[in-house]
Amino acid sequence: MAKALVLKEITKRFPLVLANDRISLDLEWGEVLALVGENGAGKSTLMKIVYGLQPPDAGEMWVDGKPYRPQSPLDAIRAGIGMVHQHFMLVEPFTVLENLVLGLEPGSPLFLDLEAARRKATALMEALGFEVPLDERVENLPVGLQQRVEILKALYREARILILDEPTAVLTPQEAEELFRFLREYVARGNAAIFISHKLKEVLAVSDRVTVIRDGKVVGTVRTRETSLEALARMMVGREVVLRVEKTPARPGEVVLEVEGLEAPPRLKGVSFQVRSGEIVGIAGVEGNGQTELVEALTGLRPFRGKALLLGRPLPASARGVRDLGASHVPEDRLVRGLVLDFSVKENAVLGDQHRPPFRGFLGFLDDRAAEAHARTLVEAYDVRPRSTALSARRFSGGNQQKIVVGRELLRGPRLLVAAQPTRGVDVGAIEFIHKELVKARDQGLAVLLVSADLSEILALSDRILVMHGGRIVGELTPEEATEERLGLLMAGVTA
Ligand SMILES: Nc1ncnc2c1ncn2[C@@H]1O[C@H](COP(=O)(O)OP(=O)(O)OP(=O)(O)O)[C@@H](O)[C@H]1O
Ligand SMILES: [Mg+2]
Repeated sequence: MAKALVLKEITKRFPLVLANDRISLDLEWGEVLALVGENGAGKSTLMKIVYGLQPPDAGEMWVDGKPYRPQSPLDAIRAGIGMVHQHFMLVEPFTVLENLVLGLEPGSPLFLDLEAARRKATALMEALGFEVPLDERVENLPVGLQQRVEILKALYREARILILDEPTAVLTPQEAEELFRFLREYVARGNAAIFISHKLKEVLAVSDRVTVIRDGKVVGTVRTRETSLEALARMMVGREVVLRVEKTPARPGEVVLEVEGLEAPPRLKGVSFQVRSGEIVGIAGVEGNGQTELVEALTGLRPFRGKALLLGRPLPASARGVRDLGASHVPEDRLVRGLVLDFSVKENAVLGDQHRPPFRGFLGFLDDRAAEAHARTLVEAYDVRPRSTALSARRFSGGNQQKIVVGRELLRGPRLLVAAQPTRGVDVGAIEFIHKELVKARDQGLAVLLVSADLSEILALSDRILVMHGGRIVGELTPEEATEERLGLLMAGVTA
């Protein structure tokens, strides 16, 4: 039988990097092939080539034994390939149903026939065992559901090969479980899937084989059954990776952040807690239980009621005010709030601090030399690849964009760091590094409020864990008390 997809010596060069260097791989019908590698290794680039979004400089491809040279995603869709991108590509003001039919060629019978589309989508959802409200606007859906829409959209177009680029980065553990169940069933029916993830545990759980790429080249392909977390990490990074965070017990000092009865609509119903200098307080909870509102209230992005003090002073009501008082923020969504994609690294490196010394220069213009020096320090210290300060943020891989944000927020020497999903999308080596930096900053007196959907991250870093459910804090645990089971129950709202 022909293979689902064969790539032979695919090469793609960008001005500063050889992103894909003669990559060959194959995908069998009936399997999930995982694609792993460091940030910037070339995974998304390769998948964009397969999906017809950009042409390779050289190399050949076959789909189901037939030569395949896509000029656009339309060719990919015709060949039965669907892709769920690292960053969603849905049209937000449109409904789910409209997004499903969007982009199908006019004249195709489904183009205007929304009722037929509804029947097909409903049948698909039944077969897949998941539900999405077809008449809801995409912008009103939580990310987990938006992603289902992306998958549904690919299947609606009858994809037999599904490419998922970091599909679980924004999912809760439960949603990820459901996705995996779906994927296994999808390939069991004779389809095939390529799954990109930095969460090696998930890779081990869902894939049949793993192809590792490093610096644009294939390092090797292994059977999932015959490998391990450590072995994969080593193949990816080229050295041993310490997967456990090493830290001494916290020595909390003065209260840096104090909130009492903090409420912010729609979902934050009143929380009270303190974060002291020198401690990491983790907020665990299923996404959508008020964490976003909490983070936005604390960083001046959302109005709130109740008491909030930063270093004993009332929390300002603007993002700039909060920043100027010494609070840093790693936002949940780096593409919306963390970076200006068309700005250079240099400009992004000082974003939010450009009005203050040392970056405020003559007549209030940006002091270019100070900004450049700062950006240089950032890309070196945080191993941003490629090491350019002039390139626009858009041209960096997802994980490298995240490193730019985390580096900027820590290097400014804050008193408080509110970090939401700080390692979302970064590779194992970079997670190790960011975790070490967070602990180091804590030891130097930083107060950290960590919000993460990744339980293992919460457990590894936190000195105290607060569990949120229904907009309130329903429990506080030490990391020793916090087994995954206890946390899971609290997160589900079981407090007995
Ligand atoms: N449009 C572009 N212009 C210039 N360079 C690019 C462009 N797109 C990607 N690159 C570069 O190509 C390399 C590979 O990027 P790619 O996005 O494929 O990495 P990745 O393996 O998906 O990483 P991540 O895990 O961080 O998502 C990176 O060095 C990136 O900066
Ligand atoms: Mg990528």
